[in-house]
Amino acid sequence: MADVARLCYFRPMNAGASSDYLSLIQEINSCTLCALSQSRTNAVPGEGNPHADIMFIGEAPGANEDRQGRPFIGAAGTVLDNMLAVIGLDRSDVYICNMIKCRPPDNRDPQPSEMDTCRPYLDRQIELIDPKVIVTLGRHSFGKFFAGETISKARGRPREWNGRIVFPVYHPAATLHNPRLKPVLEEDFRKLPSLIGAHLPQETPKPEAQPERQGTTPSTTQPSQTQLGMNFDSAGSDPATPRETEAETPKQSSQGELF
Ligand code: URA
Repeated sequence: MADVARLCYFRPMNAGASSDYLSLIQEINSCTLCALSQSRTNAVPGEGNPHADIMFIGEAPGANEDRQGRPFIGAAGTVLDNMLAVIGLDRSDVYICNMIKCRPPDNRDPQPSEMDTCRPYLDRQIELIDPKVIVTLGRHSFGKFFAGETISKARGRPREWNGRIVFPVYHPAATLHNPRLKPVLEEDFRKLPSLIGAHLPQETPKPEAQPERQGTTPSTTQPSQTQLGMNFDSAGSDPATPRETEAETPKQSSQGELF
């Protein structure tokens, strides 16, 4: 269990994380369903608040993530942390994971068979965490929900998907390669609080999330940490620390899109 606690960034989740969630994390950590399990150092199940209203879904772990078993801890992770800070959040307020849970060697694109094999894990994460808003980071993640569309056209516009909002944005790594995309990504992040606010009033709060949300009211302004879930120490990475970028080089799609 201690290992699970480390890998899912678990300390404050003990109070609220279900045994189903814990089992899922353990299953991912010990998964051998595809060949990526043989080359990985650690699986990267995901981390954050298991009752989060916002779930971020990236593509796949890079070298840093593989080493530590945590998502988005390299240069792209620093961008993500900074974007969260812009809207007054940190990674303990949200849930962060990837389409696939193990690093593809040499940062190649995940293969369709690997995506297919790993997809049930993500589906179960979505079901258990039950986020109101799913933020897809980059084209691979967006493609899970809306295949065949380009991220450059879709970004920044919320969609309905199975009763949730899916909100596509550029991959944070895109801003490292093209700094002109940084204000675009920031503009999209600034829409997130109102998406949560817009979604809450019509809904009865989730029963399992109530203890963590006691004393909060739905808001159309920027949500507090408490509104978005449990409030606890952030173990996020230090934005001032230099990061490797080799693990996060985005790949070009057949449609010529980088992210
Ligand atoms: N790190 C991740 O965990 N996922 C990505 O998509 C990129 C970097």
